Order: sequence, then C-alpha cells, then structure tokens
Amino acid sequence: MKIGQVTLASPFVVAPMAGMTDTAFRRLVKRQGGCGLVVTEMVSSEGLVRGIDRTLEYAEYTEEERPVSIQIFGRDPATMAAAAQIVEGMGADIVDVNMGCPVAKIARHSAGCSLMRQPEHAASVIEAMALAVKIPVTVKMRAGWNDGARNAPTLARMVQDAGAAAVTIHGRTAEQSYSGLADWDLVARVASELTIPVLGSGDCIEPEQVIGRMEAGVSGVLVGRGVLRNPWILAQAADLAAGRPPRVVTLRERGQFLCDYIELLLNERVDEGEGFRHFAPRGTADGPVEIARGRDRWVINKIRALCAWYSKGLEGGSHLRTRVNSAASLAELHDIVDEFFFAVPAAV
Ligand SMILES: Cc1cc2nc3c(=O)[nH]c(=O)nc-3n(C[C@H](O)[C@H](O)[C@H](O)COP(=O)(O)O)c2cc1C
Repeated sequence: MKIGQVTLASPFVVAPMAGMTDTAFRRLVKRQGGCGLVVTEMVSSEGLVRGIDRTLEYAEYTEEERPVSIQIFGRDPATMAAAAQIVEGMGADIVDVNMGCPVAKIARHSAGCSLMRQPEHAASVIEAMALAVKIPVTVKMRAGWNDGARNAPTLARMVQDAGAAAVTIHGRTAEQSYSGLADWDLVARVASELTIPVLGSGDCIEPEQVIGRMEAGVSGVLVGRGVLRNPWILAQAADLAAGRPPRVVTLRERGQFLCDYIELLLNERVDEGEGFRHFAPRGTADGPVEIARGRDRWVINKIRALCAWYSKGLEGGSHLRTRVNSAASLAELHDIVDEFFFAVPAAV
C-alpha cells in the first residue's frame, strides 16, 4: 500500500493514542511485526511553530519506527502549514491532521473534530499544508460531529480535492466519543467513493476483526485500543493475511513486553546514537531537552496507564491492575510483573 510516495509494507497501523502510543511503545509494537505505519500522539501546531510547548516531545520519533506519521492539531491554515514544514524538516514520512479529537479543550479552539463542522475551512487547512510540503498530508476524521451531521463522505472528498494523500475514518461521531459502535458501512462507503487510500478505525480487538475489516474495501486498518490490550494483534493479523494461524503469545512473552517497555522508558534519550531520535526544534527560551524527569514516577505512571488496557482479558487481570496501581516503586512494580507473568511453568 502507498500513501503518496511512501510505501507501507503492511496495511495495519498503530492508531495514534494520546498518552499511550509514545515512541517506546511504538518501537516495541513494531518489533513484533505486521505493523506498516505508526502515528505519533497528537501535537499542537502552535506549539511546534513557537517551539516552546511542553508537549513537543509527543512529536519525537526514532529511526526504528519508520515509516512514521506525525499527527498535528490546530485550525489556522498558515500555522498548520508552518507546522507541516517543521514536521517535514524533522524527517517524518507523513504529516497527519487530527480532525477527530472530541475533547473539549481541543474542540474549543475549533481544532480536532470541530474542524468537521467547518468543512470549507478544514479543506483550506489541508490545501495550505499540501502546498507547503512535499511529504504526504493525511487526515484522520470521525463519522461527523453528531448524528445530525455525519459528513465524513463529503469532507473526505473535499480534503482529497484539497491535496490530502489519504484519509482515515473512525466511524463514530464526536458526540458518541467512544460509546456505541464504529460505523464501518460509512467507512466502506467513503472508501468506494475516493481515489486516494481510505483507512478505517474502530473496534478491532481480535486479529480476525482486523482482517474482516479489510474486506470493507479499505486500504488499511488502524488499531487503537486493541493494540494496548494485545501489542501482537498486528503481527497476528499479518499471520492471518499470509494464510498462517495467528501466533500464540505466552504469558511470559506478555510479561517480557512490560519489562522491555519499562527498560526502554527508563533509557529514553540515554546513550542513543547520533540521528536515532528526531526532536522537534525548540526555541531558546525553552532550554535544552530535559534528560531526567523524576523518571521512576513517570515510568510507573506509564505502566499504570498501559495496564488499564493490557490487563483486560487476562485471567486475574483486575487483580493485576489493582496491584500495579498501588505500586510505589519500580522495584515493587518488577515484583508484581514477576509474580503475575513469570511465576508459572515456562510452557504456559
Ligand atoms: C486513549 C486514547 C487516545 C487517543 N488519542 C488520539 C489522538 O491523539 N489522535 C487521534 O487521531 N485519535 C486518537 N484516539 C482515537 C484512536 O486513534 C482510534 O481512532 C479510536 O480509539 C478507535 O479505534 P479503536 O477502537 O481501535 O481504539 C485515541 C483513542 C484512545 C482510546
């Protein structure tokens, strides 16, 4: 599959998830195989342009993750175009525009899914960006703002005409947030009407569902919460696509994933080779990139956030969640992981 000039080795994509899909997590998912593209957490276009935002690290990525799409949000065409140039300057493969975020803090600024309420303006944002950069500009939108305005088919065509190289549809409205089910019929309709690749997103928890959704005629599938529960889901979907049974993941492998994640988080920016990590440029007022940041506490919080999803479907998962949430130190966290995942015979 190709998005503009960027070739994806697999149509299965790690969906952007703020607070969850940091570079360490994306690298680990990528290592399992089957993943054709990763998308960063959303980053503010204004923050990128000013170079002074606390959230600039969301745009960071590493060479191991390529191809990489950096997702930005904002509403002003000139600022979004300038931010796209910064993303291009960072060496990212794709710049993605968030038109799906329903969170009030973002929507209040007429960014995220609010852009879907102003289709002409949304298209003008994409046009300005597409004129400003050579890398593909893509859009991730929802079905619409609410049930009375399910305008994804119209807006998708408009952004295609404005120069978008691909569109992803999460088949829920902003008002639905995450309730109900994603409308894959709508996704299929958009896919049949556009000439650029259309990808779908929503409710793929099992690898069989990822494969099943490809039959809707989409060019690719983004998996969000399913990856947080099961980071092997894309690899398992690739197994199925190749006619193999999906790989079996042992409890020990699940435990090792958590240990590897802790290790990668602890060593972020430590002894990394020149050119491995790509940073958003910072204004001088912000000083150099911070190296240590109460790292243990930060890592514990990251593992807690992941375990809220990762523990789902595991026998004794709620007990694991409770224990992880009460871990006061990394040593305690390691003990909990050891006990839960490794205190069983290796064959299990
Ligand atoms: C915790 C969380 C954070 C998310 N953050 C973003 C985001 O930053 N940008 C975005 O476009 N979508 C975001 N999403 C939406 C997902 O990318 C995805 O479209 C949605 O969760 C539906 O797919 P799923 O059912 O596979 O999770 C987020 C979803 C979750 C659960």
